[in-house]
Amino acid sequence: MLSIAARSIKTSSVKTLRPLTAVRTKVTLPELPYAYEALEPYVSGEIMKIHHSKHHQAYVNGFNLAEEKLQGAFQANDLTQQLALQNALKFNGGGHINHSLFWKNLAPQSEGGGQAPKGSLLSAIEKEFGTFDNFVTQFNTAAAGVQGSGWAWLGYNKAAKRLEIATTPNQDPLLTLTPVLGIDVWEHAYYLQYKNVRPDYLKAIWQVVNWKTVAERFAKAQ
Ligand SMILES: [Fe+2]
Repeated sequence: MLSIAARSIKTSSVKTLRPLTAVRTKVTLPELPYAYEALEPYVSGEIMKIHHSKHHQAYVNGFNLAEEKLQGAFQANDLTQQLALQNALKFNGGGHINHSLFWKNLAPQSEGGGQAPKGSLLSAIEKEFGTFDNFVTQFNTAAAGVQGSGWAWLGYNKAAKRLEIATTPNQDPLLTLTPVLGIDVWEHAYYLQYKNVRPDYLKAIWQVVNWKTVAERFAKAQ
């Protein structure tokens, strides 16, 4: 038999229960771990500022809005509306996930950006691609070949225990592999500095790749 106090707690707990979807915390724009101009001359401060404060912010806002609408659709038991929101959720949610990873993939040279990988990560790259330079060439070929907007990835295939290069269109996140390095090849990532010459941007970006965070993701993925 429950005491009066216990019954009171039980009743109030039931009253305060909410659907799980209603308590999800909104996503927020992560702080850039370096100054906007810190990647110059390889990526201009102007690009970084717009890319982070406008583009990424738009994905954050878009995802939160789509989530809010989805909660309404759940509460209204409106299946059509739930399905209609899937594109917005994937596009904006993917944009948030991809960019959050991308910022940490880069670092100013004063903080190790561009310092080639070593240890087990380098060994794994050499095992799959022969040499580090071959890997960069193959990655850049894949990245340059993305039609329209998208991403190029180095990902870890857990089943095959190997690193693989992959690409995804639009803001699709990499789901078939565990992403360890992602490079944004949307025009907004380079156009102000490199115009339409994506290969020049791809050549420069390696000067500021943060291989330390790539190595950490690689270690965690295994
Ligand atoms: Fe982007």
